[in-house]
Amino acid sequence: MKDRRKFLHFLDSEEYKELVPESDEQKKVPPPLFQQPFPENVPLIDLVPPDEFAIGKAPFLDLVNSRESRRKYTSDPLTLEELSFLLWSTQGVKKVLKSGRGVRRTVPSAGAKSPLETYLVINRVEGLEPGLYRYISFSHQLLFIKRIDNAEERMGKLAFDQKFVGTAPVIFCWTAVPYRTEWRYTILSHKFIAVDLGIVCQSLYMSCEAINLGTVAIGYYEQGKLDELLDLDTDEEFVVLLAPVGRYQREKKLTEFFKYAKKKVAPRSLKKLEGKYKRKNLVEFIVKNGNLVAKIGEFEEILDPYNETEFIGELSARAMRFEFTEEGKPGKVVVLTAEDEEVELEYVE
Ligand SMILES: Cc1cc2nc3c(=O)[nH]c(=O)nc-3n(C[C@H](O)[C@H](O)[C@H](O)COP(=O)(O)O)c2cc1C
Repeated sequence: MKDRRKFLHFLDSEEYKELVPESDEQKKVPPPLFQQPFPENVPLIDLVPPDEFAIGKAPFLDLVNSRESRRKYTSDPLTLEELSFLLWSTQGVKKVLKSGRGVRRTVPSAGAKSPLETYLVINRVEGLEPGLYRYISFSHQLLFIKRIDNAEERMGKLAFDQKFVGTAPVIFCWTAVPYRTEWRYTILSHKFIAVDLGIVCQSLYMSCEAINLGTVAIGYYEQGKLDELLDLDTDEEFVVLLAPVGRYQREKKLTEFFKYAKKKVAPRSLKKLEGKYKRKNLVEFIVKNGNLVAKIGEFEEILDPYNETEFIGELSARAMRFEFTEEGKPGKVVVLTAEDEEVELEYVE
């Protein structure tokens, strides 16, 4: 585990001299492409150009204050202008460097190497056939790649069964093409790529917020299966993050869900609840040693039962509440899901 942390390190100057190899750039290897190639004769779909956007003028501080992850989408389609706006804000190209050594975009990137590509699984965008697309950022256009059968169900499954992901009108799938950054930064590249990705994702959050759409970063996805769906040459390019986008519904207020005032649970009251609550044997809630523990397979996490929470498994829960029987015995745990449904977990032991 600790070994993996090193990925986040940089180096002291002495180590730098010793460890960082000569780069392909220094060896005069020609620069890589900063946009994945595509067949010349395919028609591309024009997006709405940035100087024609009528949307996205919200005050910045309002966006900062209202941003949150949103996981419940309506069935309304997105407009082409909205999609164009999101693509422009996250990966729009302002200038391809004359030297051919990088590209300037609406987002920063280490060395302007811009190692990401944006694929879209489109379920509902006005005027576009559903299917898999890629953003051709150099010309601000879309490339249709293929249809995807049962995309909603498949994408939910590919997100470790987070069903809301599949139901979104559009699902952003970012891939990394690491060599673009490695060409200059060699072994230093991978942290830079992760930082670049975070920036792009935050830009999506903020641009969604600016036009009343919702999104959430999705780090849990089936790597191999999704790479295959996108037909990627995984030696050179692979998926690094997903983000469903849609018009969102206001979520149920937590005060409506908790029927009584939120309060700190004393270990003494948790003691009373000791036992297992489960559903379909997938997610178990166990009260033990004065803690509420969520268990999915071998994975256990201690939760604060009266705090808003999120977790991955059969359910994405926003919150949970305990209910007691009239005799004061543990009755059930009620989970408020990301879809704002209440799911009851019966007490089993
Ligand atoms: C890298 C990353 C991966 C994430 N993966 C998931 C995920 O797989 N499922 C999910 O529901 N939320 C995911 N989230 C969203 C976080 O749960 C969310 O940002 C966090 O709970 C804070 O809530 P807020 O964004 O509403 O402020 C992810 C966020 C980040 C930055």
